[in-house]
Amino acid sequence: MKPTIRAVRHPGSSGRSDPFAGDDVIAGLRAPHKHLPCKLLYDARGAALFEQICTLDEYYPYRSELALLERHLPAIAAAIGPAARVIEPGAGAGVKTRMLLAALDRPASYLPIDVSSEQLAATAHDLAAAFPGLDVAPVVADYTQPLEVPAATTATGRTVVFFPGSTIGNFEPDEAEDFLARMAELAGRGAAIILGADSNTDADELLRAYDDPHGVTAAFDLNVLAHLNHSRAATFDLTAFLHRAVWNAARARVEMHLVSRRRQVVHVAGEAFQLERGEAIVTEHCYKHGPEALAALLDRAGWQVRDTFVEPRGRMRLWLGVR
Ligand code: AVI
Repeated sequence: MKPTIRAVRHPGSSGRSDPFAGDDVIAGLRAPHKHLPCKLLYDARGAALFEQICTLDEYYPYRSELALLERHLPAIAAAIGPAARVIEPGAGAGVKTRMLLAALDRPASYLPIDVSSEQLAATAHDLAAAFPGLDVAPVVADYTQPLEVPAATTATGRTVVFFPGSTIGNFEPDEAEDFLARMAELAGRGAAIILGADSNTDADELLRAYDDPHGVTAAFDLNVLAHLNHSRAATFDLTAFLHRAVWNAARARVEMHLVSRRRQVVHVAGEAFQLERGEAIVTEHCYKHGPEALAALLDRAGWQVRDTFVEPRGRMRLWLGVR
């Protein structure tokens, strides 16, 4: 079956006099504590570097979740039942998506949601070949914003939202709740969610995972500046910054910082920004919500926790929620 690709979001212009109003890059660099949107981590090079991070021993969330899926997918698939309609925020087609689709009983359809139509086309192509009976219907949209997906047909069973990888930790807590609530609404009554999340608070282990000794995470973080040099006519000298991971225990999050090695001025889209020596630009928050906080988050977003599956060391968990 030929996959359908529908563009479902049409962002309008801001209509305000400041041409950068609503521009999250410029707004973040103008802020007293500079920050950049973490989506800038994922251009083609960033996505390749993230794949490399996932192969590192230090980056335990990937391997731990893989082991959890291997062990518990049969039980999860049995709870979901036949002919599922799988919605995945993110382009999918990775190992974990394939594991889920292979574990489910004759899944009916798969709807990956991503801003990149190229990524989605690759996903659709790969999965159509690997799962011949599956209807792959990619949705070109920013899943952090309100969106629509093609309606379920009568032939489908339960709708399942699949959100592995602890990506929920990259949302601010209020945004995480909004996102999960929007997914609940989108998936409808009787739906399920499979959420993977890291609750580790061991500072040493976290700092090794987010500032690995091989320098891959540093390259991943610095690539944000290269991305802006290409996409926003920025003038960042990558050698004038270093990557630092900071564990903020009070907020239960790892922060990715790009620290200015010297006093400098950089230009982005024609605007000048001054950085002091030692000043940081925050590029990502990785929240490590504890189990109680995650259960409460799911509950407030309209999902009842049906089961949890935790690794022996108590860091990564799979959450199975229903509504
Ligand atoms: C994609 N996301 C879940 C990763 C994380 O662990 O928060 C991104 C990452 N940042 C640095 N290393 C990995």
